[in-house]
Amino acid sequence: MRAALFLLLFCVVGLALGVDQTNFKTCDQSSFCRRVRKLQPGNSKFALVPGTLNTYSDSVTADIIHKDNQHLFVFKLEALQGNTFRVLIDEKSPLRPRYKVEHALKDTPRPGTIKVLNEDGNQLTIVSGPNKAVIIGDPFRIDFYQDDVLSVSVNAKGLMNFEYLRTKPNTEAKNEVDGNVDAAAPAEATPEAQNAVKPAEDEDPGAWEENFKSHHDSKPYGPEAVALDFSFPEAEVLFGIPEHADSFVLKSTSGTDPYRLYNLDVFEYLIDSKMALYGSIPLIYGHGTQRTAGVYWQNAAETWVDIYTASNNVVSSIVNFVSRSRKADPPAAQFISESGIIDAFILLGPTPMDTFKQYTDLTGTGNLPQLYSLAYHQCRWNYNDEKDVETVSENFDLYDIPMDTMWLDIEYTDAKKYFTWDQYKFPNPLNMIKNLTDLGRHLVIIIDPHIKRDTGYFFHNDCTERGYYVKHADNRDYEGWCWPGAASYPDFFNPEVRKYYSDQYLLSNFKTVTSDVMFWNDMNEPSVFNGPEVTMYKDLIHYGNWEHRDVHNLYGHMYIWGTFDGLIKRDPNQRPFILTRAFFAGSQRYAAIWTGDNTADWGHLQHSIKMCLTAAVSGLSFCGADVGGFFGNPDPELFERWYQTGAFLPFFRSHAHIDTKRREPWLYPEKTRLVIQDAIRKRYAYLPLWYTMFYEHEIDGGPVVRPLLAHYPKDKDAFGIDNSFLLQDRLLVRPVLQQGVSKVDVYFPAIDDKKTGDLWYDVDTYQRYEKSGYESIPVNDYKVPVFQRGGTIVPRKERHRRTSLLMQNDPYTLIVCLDREGKANGTLYIDDEKSYGYRKGNYIHVNFAFENYRLTNYFIGTPKYDSKSWIERLVIAGLEKVPKSATIVIDGISKQLDVLQQGKAVIIRKPGVHVRMDFSLRLNN
Ligand code: NOJ
Repeated sequence: MRAALFLLLFCVVGLALGVDQTNFKTCDQSSFCRRVRKLQPGNSKFALVPGTLNTYSDSVTADIIHKDNQHLFVFKLEALQGNTFRVLIDEKSPLRPRYKVEHALKDTPRPGTIKVLNEDGNQLTIVSGPNKAVIIGDPFRIDFYQDDVLSVSVNAKGLMNFEYLRTKPNTEAKNEVDGNVDAAAPAEATPEAQNAVKPAEDEDPGAWEENFKSHHDSKPYGPEAVALDFSFPEAEVLFGIPEHADSFVLKSTSGTDPYRLYNLDVFEYLIDSKMALYGSIPLIYGHGTQRTAGVYWQNAAETWVDIYTASNNVVSSIVNFVSRSRKADPPAAQFISESGIIDAFILLGPTPMDTFKQYTDLTGTGNLPQLYSLAYHQCRWNYNDEKDVETVSENFDLYDIPMDTMWLDIEYTDAKKYFTWDQYKFPNPLNMIKNLTDLGRHLVIIIDPHIKRDTGYFFHNDCTERGYYVKHADNRDYEGWCWPGAASYPDFFNPEVRKYYSDQYLLSNFKTVTSDVMFWNDMNEPSVFNGPEVTMYKDLIHYGNWEHRDVHNLYGHMYIWGTFDGLIKRDPNQRPFILTRAFFAGSQRYAAIWTGDNTADWGHLQHSIKMCLTAAVSGLSFCGADVGGFFGNPDPELFERWYQTGAFLPFFRSHAHIDTKRREPWLYPEKTRLVIQDAIRKRYAYLPLWYTMFYEHEIDGGPVVRPLLAHYPKDKDAFGIDNSFLLQDRLLVRPVLQQGVSKVDVYFPAIDDKKTGDLWYDVDTYQRYEKSGYESIPVNDYKVPVFQRGGTIVPRKERHRRTSLLMQNDPYTLIVCLDREGKANGTLYIDDEKSYGYRKGNYIHVNFAFENYRLTNYFIGTPKYDSKSWIERLVIAGLEKVPKSATIVIDGISKQLDVLQQGKAVIIRKPGVHVRMDFSLRLNN
C-alpha cells in the first residue's frame, strides 16, 4: 500500500511539474566539485621527482610530488598499440588502496614499445612508432604528438589535483545542510604539510561529512578527489561524455555548472542540459579540420567535466581572435572525480574514425545482434494481460504494419518480484509466448535490479541468507524504495552474486519463459526513490570493501554483465538481446541502450538524434529513444515524425508511460496510421543494411550511426550538425524534426576546404545533389529526407512482411549510386540472424563493386552460410545515359537482361544471381 502511494505520488508529481532540479546536486552542492573547481589554472603544484625514472620496454615510471604538501605519487606512462597511451597516477603509499576501475576494458590493452630520448633535467621524450610523449618535469605536464603534431596536452592548464587519503581529524567536522556552507571542518595535516597553505580539501565544510537534503554522507575516508585537464591543440570542437540531453558538440561551462557524469534516474529530464542522466562514459574527443584525438578518463566515481571552449562564449572568442591563437589557448576539458585514481587513455587518432576505433579497441564493440532486434519493437507500460498482448499483435497484422517484438513492463510480475508472473493477468505465459513465436514474433520482458523485501520471495530469501545485498558500513543490508516498495539491491560486483543472478535465467530456474524471450534491464543506475538524488548512499559497501562512491557509475554495467552471462548460459548458441538504461564504458559488449524517460515534444525528438550520436561515438551504437515520447501524448504529427526518425536510429521501439493514452498506430487517424506503416516499412526495407552495418561494427568498431564530421572532418560547417546523421558512410538521414514544415534544410557536407560536395541521391526519387551546403528539400507527410551517397551500394529487401523472420529468405535489391567517376562500392552481410555460427565462419560477407559499366562481386572470406536468397533487382542511379541492355555472366554462362528506365534511375530485374554466386554484369550502351 505504501509502495503504491509512493508510486502514485512519484508519477503525479512528476507528470505535473517536470523535473525537480532541486533533487539533484549542483557543483556547488557537491563538496569535491566545488573544492576542485577552486583551483586556478597556471599554478600546478605537481612535479616529477628527479632521479626516480624507471624505463621498461613499453612504459616509464617515476614519482611525482606535490610541492606544497610533499605528498608522493607514482606515475606511469604506457605506450599501447594503435596510437594510444595510458597515463596512470596513484598515491605512492595511500592509507588504504584506492579504487581502480575493473571490467570496463574488454581485456588487457596490448602494449606498444618505446624509446626514451634526450633525458635531460626537466624534459623527457618517449617515442612509440609515429607517436611521441614529451614529459615535462616541473610543473608536471605531458604533450602527446602524433606524426610530430601536438594533439593532446595533459595538465597544460595546471588543473591537476590529487587529494591524498588522510586520517580523519579528531575535531568533529561540522556538517553543512542542503549544500549551505555553515562552518569549516579542520582536517589533520600531515607533518610535512603543517607549514603549507591549506588546500581546499582542508577548508571545505563538506570534506569529511556531507549532507544533501535529508541525506547524510558519512565520508569515512574524507576528501579523495582526483582531477586533470586535457587540452586539444588541434581541435575546434569537443564532443563525447554521454549521457546528457544536450547538443552533440559540447558547450563551454564557463559561467555554468560542469557537465556531470553520475548515473541517475532523472524524472522528466530537461533538454539542453548538462545535468547527469542514466549512463556515464567519461570519454571526450577534440576535433579540428586537421585531426581528431580523444581521452578516455577511466573512473567510475561521480565525475564533473569542465569544458573550455570559445564556442558559446562571445567574450572569450573575441579575446581569442584578437590576442591569442587557438593553439595558445586550445579547447580543453578538466575531469573531476570524487575518488579513485587517475587513469587516462590518450587516443591520438588522427582521423575521427581512427579515434573512435581506438576507443572500441579498448572497451570492445557491440556484438552483432539477432536481426529481429534491429526491427520494430512495440512497448508500453503496460500491456495489461495475455489478451492485450494477443490483440495488439493481431492488430499489427490486421493493419498490415510490420512488428517483431512485444514488450512487457513491470506489471507482468507478481507484485514486482522479478522472475515471477502475475498469475491472474498472465496465467499462461508459455502459451502467450508460443502464440507470438508462431507468428514469427518475440517477447522482451523487464527484470530490474531492486529485489522486493518479501519473505515469500525466493530471490530475497537467498540474497538475505547468503549476504548478497549491498550493505551499510555496519554490515546491515541496505534497504531502499523502488517499484516493489521496500527493496534491497544485490551486489553485482561480487562474482558469486553475479553467478547466482545469472543462474536465474536458466530455463531450469525460470521455467515460464523460453530461450527466445529476451530482457530489459531498467532502473539500474541504481534508482532508489528515497535515496539521495534518487540513488544509493555513497558510503554503502560493495564486494572488496569498496564504497558505493568508488563504483557508482559501474553498478548498471555489472548488472547487465550478469544478465548477459545468464543468457549465454541459458543458450550458448543464441545471441542475447538486452536493453539497459544505465551504462558505463564497455557496456556495448552486453546491451543496447535507450535514452530513458523522454517527453512527447519536438525538443525531445530532436535530442534523440543528438544523444544517440554521442552514444555511438562512445562505443554504444545500439541506441534509440522512446518513439512518441515516454511522458505525455504525442499529437498525430509529432507521432508520425517520431516514427520516421526512429526508423533510422538503431534501436526502434515505441514506448509510453502507464498514465498516457493508449497509442497503438490504429488508434490514431487513418493517415497517421498509414504514415507510421510507411515509416516502419522503410525500416524493414533497410534491414539488410542495418544488419551488415552491425556486423561490420562488431568487426572494426566503427560506429553504425555517425556524425557528419566522421567522414567530412575538414568541413567546419558540419561539425556542429546534429539534426542529421550518417549510416556508416552510405546514407545521410535528415528527418523532419519541426512541426508544420513543408520543407527542410538539408546540409550536404564538403569533402575538402574548397567546399566540394559528394554526390547524394534522394532514396525515393534518385534526384541528385552535387554541391555542398544547405539545400531546401520539400517534404510531405510521408517524406523522410534520406540520401544515398554517390559511390555506395546499399542492399535492401522490398517485400512487405509481418516480421523480419519471414523476410529471411526474401530476395535482395541492390541500390547502386554512382560517384562522379561512375564508380560505387558496398557490402552485404548474411547469416542465420540468430546464432553464433557466424563466429565459426558460417556467413556470407560480399563486396559489390561497380566500375566501367560493370558490376562485380567478391567474397570477403569463404561464403559458407547456406542462404536461400537471390538478388532480384538492381537499381543504378547516376548513369549518363540509359544502357540498351545488360549482360550477366555467371559460371561462364552469359545471359542478356533488359534495362528499364524508372525516373532518374535504371532497373535491371531478375539477374538470376544467388547471393553465393560469383557474377559479373556489364551494361551495354
Ligand atoms: C522507467 C523506465 O525508464 C520506463 O521506460 C519504464 O516504463 C518504467 N521505468 C517502468 O518500468
